[in-house]
Amino acid sequence: MPTEVAYQQCISPTCGEVYSLDDARVACGRCGELLDVVYDWNRAAAPRSLRAFEAKWAQRGDPLCFSGVWRFRDLLPFAPPEKIVTVGEGQTLLQKADAVAKYVGLNPGRLFLQYEGMNPSGSFKDNGMSAAFTHAHMIDARRAACASTGNTSASLALYCSVTGLMRAVIFVGSGKIAYGKLSQALEYGALTVQILGDFDDAMARVKEVASELGIYLVNSVNPFRLEGQKTIMYRVLEAMGWEVPDWIVVPGGNLGNSSAFGKAFIELRELGLIDRLPRLAVINAAGANTLYELYERRGLRWNEGRPDATIIDGYYAELDQGGRKADTIASAIEINRPVNLKKCLRALDACDGVVREVDDQHILDAKAKVGSGGLGCEPASAASVAGARRLREEGVIGPDERVVCILTGHQLKDPTATVAYHSADQEMFNSVLGKRGVRRASFANRAVVVPNDLDEIIKAIRLYG
Ligand code: F0G
Repeated sequence: MPTEVAYQQCISPTCGEVYSLDDARVACGRCGELLDVVYDWNRAAAPRSLRAFEAKWAQRGDPLCFSGVWRFRDLLPFAPPEKIVTVGEGQTLLQKADAVAKYVGLNPGRLFLQYEGMNPSGSFKDNGMSAAFTHAHMIDARRAACASTGNTSASLALYCSVTGLMRAVIFVGSGKIAYGKLSQALEYGALTVQILGDFDDAMARVKEVASELGIYLVNSVNPFRLEGQKTIMYRVLEAMGWEVPDWIVVPGGNLGNSSAFGKAFIELRELGLIDRLPRLAVINAAGANTLYELYERRGLRWNEGRPDATIIDGYYAELDQGGRKADTIASAIEINRPVNLKKCLRALDACDGVVREVDDQHILDAKAKVGSGGLGCEPASAASVAGARRLREEGVIGPDERVVCILTGHQLKDPTATVAYHSADQEMFNSVLGKRGVRRASFANRAVVVPNDLDEIIKAIRLYG
């Protein structure tokens, strides 16, 4: 038995190999499975009530109490305070969004949007990066790497530039990164490696390179990342007066969030801090629907830690044989081989989960609705709202249930998709969206073109305003 308060452990119950915290690895050395960060709650000073966290805000002069991640450090007690790295992440908002509720088919007051785009680098990644970066700092790493469709790289690059503690090395698929994000990575000074391939290729390569060169890997295979991402759920609970909502709806890409959320709730129940778990809905893009295919169509389940590997291997072999690549406008979830698949199965099992797929048309329509009735989000994030709408239509979610959709990234990430959706320029619409099967922009807000003439401008404003 480990003697530390926190340690790492293989998620497979048949293996269960234990590693100390200073071991920087992203897979079990014995069986190759994913690792968890595990706590001995009898020895950690676990909080007795969730309300106790409210007092931390009064101490916000202390950066560790200001941070929306580290305010909850009693629930992720793996780091000594002097090693914790924070840039003020996690100051995010849970917004009651009645206009979006109507679109989803929920009664007023029942839909909440959790705005993770308000983080310093513009996405939820900062929650996890702060934790992984802290671990990297604990073990004196000098370089940190990731593969990314944009947000992870922007986040890593930001932590490196603000703290000066590490050099960022990022791998992006060529032509597969949104400009808003590439601009962050470049300006923050990351070493940016564009490889000829997609995210799945970049992910495979960065794992090899990190292991070959001893570079610290910060993708969500890193179990410390997920510890930080648990805090998104703590903030949701806090904003709801510590009441557990009926549903958490989250986009699924590499499945780090869904895995982290499941772990957060399992631990809170273990600690007696909540008495029931919310249901979890993970939403894939139809063009990158591995989880949907495996979970809903082929019946893959956690199965007490023994998921049927033949189902997974069979599906990946089909993808390879058909040369099928992930393809969706929601670039952040354009992923066919989600690295956290098994942890996500565990979360779905604990939270009586469902998985749905939504196509790019519905993603962009939902995104426009979020923007016009909320604070706006990037395409991948809107998959959560499109998925909630679908689950309402199916009657899986009831009209009076309390639903929280996680908006994972900022509206400004992908202006190309947004402007094309709202544009009256058919050519632009077709070239950006037509090839994705998007045919209509039902919620477009088109710019009004007027001659450079005062009377005409006034006429136009009277007509449209
Ligand atoms: N939403 C956004 C905005 C993302 O950036 C990502 C992942 C996801 C959802 C998927 O989350 O992996 O937890 O299921 N983006 C990665 C990146 C791939 O490189 O930034 P997940």
